[in-house]
Amino acid sequence: MKKIIVAITGGSGAIYGIRTIQLLNDLGAETHVIISPWGSRNIELETPYSVKEVKEMASVYYPSGNQAAAISSGSFKVDGMIVSPCSMKTLASIANGLASDLISRSADVMLKEQKKLILLTRETPLNLIHIKNMEAVVSAGAMVFPPVPAFYNQPKTLDDVIHHTVGRMLDQFGYDPEWVKRWGKDSHNQHLRKLTSTGPQR
Ligand SMILES: Cc1cc2nc3c(=O)[nH]c(=O)nc-3n(C[C@H](O)[C@H](O)[C@H](O)COP(=O)(O)O)c2cc1C
Repeated sequence: MKKIIVAITGGSGAIYGIRTIQLLNDLGAETHVIISPWGSRNIELETPYSVKEVKEMASVYYPSGNQAAAISSGSFKVDGMIVSPCSMKTLASIANGLASDLISRSADVMLKEQKKLILLTRETPLNLIHIKNMEAVVSAGAMVFPPVPAFYNQPKTLDDVIHHTVGRMLDQFGYDPEWVKRWGKDSHNQHLRKLTSTGPQR
């Protein structure tokens, strides 16, 4: 069974974090969840879920101020960490090794232990500070994974878009979620052939 830390910070898109926990639970993973104070606020502002409900989805929940939590130490075995969504503030904390709360400390531990760290960074447009912080975390071994929607899977609902992004992120942990519609299937190729044979000529 995989053990994965999921952190929800105050970037817009708290629903990405909630779906990450739910889908990992469905896949049989053990979820270790941290929610920042602004992550909690955005759960209330942006989603139909209460913070209590999200905490109850976790296999283990840790307050973000608890630096003494098990996941604060590299000696605690986990397979990796997903920050979903990741605010520019938390990105900056990780890029600069601040480790000032349990989220940036756990992320720092992932980097020092050379474990998988995926940051679903949510901001647009990006300033040079954001870009340099992304460069720093990627240089240190993290993956920057902005929630940019795909359209080749022909999403019909916002949940289709969210599921696809979360599914592609979980691919990184060796999962192969059946809800991810992958390019290269016959249906997609047929659709492309139809489009290119009847679509506007340039
Ligand atoms: C509704 C709402 C949406 C926000 N969206 C973003 C966002 O998309 N990206 C971002 O970097 N910050 C966003 N913020 C600001 C962060 O919440 C703020 O910088 C906070 O200090 C982040 O702290 P944390 O990373 O510890 O959660 C948003 C705030 C609110 C209230």
